[in-house]
Amino acid sequence: MNLVLRGVTLFSGEQRDLFVLGTRLVDDVPPAPQVIDARGLIALPGLVDPHTHLREPSEDHAEPAETIASATAAAARGGFTAVAAMPNTTPACNGPDDVQWLLARARAVGAAARVVPIGAVTTDRAGKELADLTGMAGVGVRLFSDDGAAVATPDLLREALLTVKHFGGAIADHCQDPALAGPGAWNPDDNWPTAAETSIVARDIQVAKDTGGRIHLCHLSCAESVELVRQAKADGVHVTAEVTPHHLLLTADNLADGNPAFKVNPPLRHIDDVEALRAGLADGTIDMIGTDHAPHRGADKAKPIAEASPGFTGLEQGLAVVIETMVNIGRLSWADVARVMSQAPARLLHLNNQGRTLSPDDPATLTLIDPSRRAIVSADDTASLARNNPYAGLDLPSPVVMTFWGGRCTFQRGWR
Ligand code: DOR
Repeated sequence: MNLVLRGVTLFSGEQRDLFVLGTRLVDDVPPAPQVIDARGLIALPGLVDPHTHLREPSEDHAEPAETIASATAAAARGGFTAVAAMPNTTPACNGPDDVQWLLARARAVGAAARVVPIGAVTTDRAGKELADLTGMAGVGVRLFSDDGAAVATPDLLREALLTVKHFGGAIADHCQDPALAGPGAWNPDDNWPTAAETSIVARDIQVAKDTGGRIHLCHLSCAESVELVRQAKADGVHVTAEVTPHHLLLTADNLADGNPAFKVNPPLRHIDDVEALRAGLADGTIDMIGTDHAPHRGADKAKPIAEASPGFTGLEQGLAVVIETMVNIGRLSWADVARVMSQAPARLLHLNNQGRTLSPDDPATLTLIDPSRRAIVSADDTASLARNNPYAGLDLPSPVVMTFWGGRCTFQRGWR
């Protein structure tokens, strides 16, 4: 498709025309373009989510919680052009064949965003022996995680960090000590204390420092974790960190009546933690947003809280929440949003065609937003198969008007 985006404002603040010739941006009007009046709209590089649960492959063919097709359609609606797929699937992503399967499946279903496989750190995420990290690196994987659980032991983490160091990879860890916050834990003041997170954060930083390997800390939830990362960065440790949109907005007040709809790992915490996470994102201690899009079937979420599945959908409202909690109160600029929701995750995942500056010759991979557009969130207004949306009923920005991935329009809505 040839396009002119007339008078768009780039995330850098510059207002100009953007020209698309087929799959790329060019520096002059392409032949026979469609012209879009984009005055008042902001162009961000296509968003990149370093932390998505696609729920494929799965043994649950009768009633899947999500599929690659549905999750990537949700991603496109949320402005994402790439999603990194966490390997807590059945089977887990243990080796190069699993990686190739996922990539082939994404192609076969016509995924609406790039699917970037994350490899398991240990076989089946069981914490016994390392998965085939080098084999997966051979087919392009650069990020590995046992997400859903922390890498079980410091010696496995050490071995993994030393292995991925050879090809510039990183280990993304889910910081939850199972002895302090075991299965079913949900309460930040009781069975899921901050120490269950900070003890793993501290361990991981220590092992990363010792090995010189690259650790990425997933979905931080508490003030003390932010402080540990701030200190580690000052010490020169190769550490990056992520925060979810829900931990930037919601608090444990939602859990007061034991509502399983708000159960998530790590748990929603208190306003001081929320404030520290926002401050950490604003000052660069936290590098990026990870949605932790974790779709679940209604029946799995509706159980008594100790048995209910933890997690929220997050792809469609992720940007909205970042705008509401950070941009609208002046703590992040649009250039910062481009950094934390596109450029930093693209760098972590080694994606050369994402997180660009929107200059001529770059791929036409971008998200057009109208930041003034708002809507009441409806859990049913979604491309996801899941409805476990923690923002349902809230009045939030509804910014995304068009998403382009390599020149392909993957989402579009009327906005004037
Ligand atoms: O709440 C969560 N759900 N946190 C995780 O880390 C995993 C996720 C899931 O896979 O459902």
